[in-house]
Amino acid sequence: MSEQPRASFGGKLSVILVAAGSAIGLGALWRFPYIAGENGGAAFLLVFLLSVLVVGIPAMLAEFAVGRHTKKNAVGAFRALSKRWSWLGYSGVLGALLISGYYYLIAGWSLEYFVNSVTGSLYSDAASFTSQFSEFEGSWRPIIYCVIFILMTHLIVSFGVEKGIERASKIMMPLLFIILIVMAVRVAFMPGAAKGYEFFLSCDFEKAFSPDTIMMAMGQAFFSLSVGMGCMVTYSSYFKKNNNMISTSFNVSLLTILVSVLAGLIIFPAVFSAGLEPTEGSSLVFITLPEIFKGMPLAALWSSIFFLLVILAALTSTISFHEVLTAYFSEEFKLSRKSAAFVTTVVSILLSVLTFSKLFGVDYSNVFDFVTANILMPLGGMFTCIFVVWYMKKSFMKDELTNEGTANRYLYKVFIFMLRYVTPLIIFYIFIKNLI
Ligand code: PFF
Repeated sequence: MSEQPRASFGGKLSVILVAAGSAIGLGALWRFPYIAGENGGAAFLLVFLLSVLVVGIPAMLAEFAVGRHTKKNAVGAFRALSKRWSWLGYSGVLGALLISGYYYLIAGWSLEYFVNSVTGSLYSDAASFTSQFSEFEGSWRPIIYCVIFILMTHLIVSFGVEKGIERASKIMMPLLFIILIVMAVRVAFMPGAAKGYEFFLSCDFEKAFSPDTIMMAMGQAFFSLSVGMGCMVTYSSYFKKNNNMISTSFNVSLLTILVSVLAGLIIFPAVFSAGLEPTEGSSLVFITLPEIFKGMPLAALWSSIFFLLVILAALTSTISFHEVLTAYFSEEFKLSRKSAAFVTTVVSILLSVLTFSKLFGVDYSNVFDFVTANILMPLGGMFTCIFVVWYMKKSFMKDELTNEGTANRYLYKVFIFMLRYVTPLIIFYIFIKNLI
């Protein structure tokens, strides 16, 4: 099975759309705006930008180099470079497993809300959105929608790298951008929108540059750029040799930042215009936003469009961690792609059921989130940086970043310097601080 020529993404644009698809997800849509609004607004944006530059992009480049050079799944890639470092690949696979344990559930919620918006039942129900949400959470429906979401992901991944992942990203990502822009424009015309812009963009440098906020920005950069979890290693194993990885990483980061900001420019003006308080995460998306749509003409339509946006963003991210596992099972256990995708899907369903069941009263979604975001991602990212510049030969990163001396002839030095002396140290510092 693994003897077939390895698949690869088409041109430059495909690579950017696929990688940005992984990056842009719930992190950009429902976490970023709130963190930014609460932590210094536009000044936070600056901190986030710096985090992306200093931590996110170098770590992403390190992963790109490992994946593209070896053309293998996360475990196989590290093992091919050094047996002793193959645990880094396992750490990525474990991260992808754990994220599967809670991300699909949230994605499933938006699917239900999309369906209920399209049918109109979300707005014809007399119950408040708070009680609708808690009734929904307490029922068995979340796990049904979660499984449907996993199956949607399965379908795309099992079509393969080119016909599945690449094609889906090329359709979904442009659609996502169109929806974002349409919504941002629509919201701008709501009365009192200005207050929302003020909340989101008012500049508070003191808040933004406090140690806690900087840490949050770095964590957000990691999660949002999908680094530290074998994801970019796996995706870059499908890059062509002549891909300019520095420019790819910049483009992916720019798009992610753009979407994060657009999300804020949609959510806060809407929230303030409706006279509501900004909240975070699930209550923002499933309680506050429906409340706002209800007050608008064509409520069900706007609500459907919005939840479609969340679905698109989440789906292009779920296919990326599904692919980490599918590539791993397929290549390490010599399974056909279809069987490997099937195994991944079954495991994802089992994990989601575990999380949903709260077996033994444990909140697995918090546990999985904590372990991935605070332990596996930073450590995985840090050691990958250390690995590529300290363990590998000096020429490794240079050849990868310059495509054997044909591109980025000077720029590469900046990243090698950061990978050697800056990025791992900063990640280490955040990691320790977060644990304490
Ligand atoms: N970047 C995705 C988001 O912001 O929602 C989440 C994610 C996807 C994290 C894939 C890690 C990963 F490997």
